[in-house]
Amino acid sequence: MLARNANDYHNAASIQYGIPMSNANEKRQAGEAAIRYVEDGAIIGVGTGSTVAFFIDALADLKDRIQGAVSSSEQSTAQLKKLGIPVLDLNTAGPLTIYIDGADECDPHKRLIKGGGAALTREKIVAAASQKFVCIIDPSKRVDLLGKFPVPIEVIPMARSLIGREIVKRGGQPVWRDGVVTDNGNWIIDVHGWQITDPAALESELNQLPGIVTVGLFARRPADVVLIGEHEM
Ligand code: 5RP
Repeated sequence: MLARNANDYHNAASIQYGIPMSNANEKRQAGEAAIRYVEDGAIIGVGTGSTVAFFIDALADLKDRIQGAVSSSEQSTAQLKKLGIPVLDLNTAGPLTIYIDGADECDPHKRLIKGGGAALTREKIVAAASQKFVCIIDPSKRVDLLGKFPVPIEVIPMARSLIGREIVKRGGQPVWRDGVVTDNGNWIIDVHGWQITDPAALESELNQLPGIVTVGLFARRPADVVLIGEHEM
């Protein structure tokens, strides 16, 4: 379903990701607060999700002052285009100054779990291409230890069982997100049961496994700024 506006989008996202509607206000505040990081003439890296949908809505008011956006998903692309914000290709846009995205969990070191919306691969690419990563969350996403939210992993379809066994060896319980195909044509495994004391080490280790495209741990390159509602962490 395509968004008609941020609220419609939020409803759709809430159903798809099981997001409590009670957090809509803080998501909106975070999305709108991120506008202060948008500079005139910039190309903005844009993430995915219901919090980002509020950011995109607010960005539309500034569309004549920016060059455009590099999008991390078909979902965000559709919303950006609908609001008349030019969507640019990362290869031609070059390095970006700023990336705005949500998260499923955020620890005190600004390390994240992402990928609840299955857009983790393009999100990680755009984050890596950006000088500053501003993460926008509601307070429910703050944790001391990452892992209560299952870690999404994008896998090449033929490697699903192989990766599942590798996860079990590492103490996780893999659950295939049945029916979900990513924008890149791949599948998602959600890993339950990990209490992640060293997220950067786990991210590096999993990155080595053939068949894994992207691990939804953003620890090697954490966020630079985290906005919880309108407050900076
Ligand atoms: C999508 C993501 C989102 O940023 C994450 O799922 C948070 O979404 P929301 O803002 O809807 O709570 O990583 O892949």
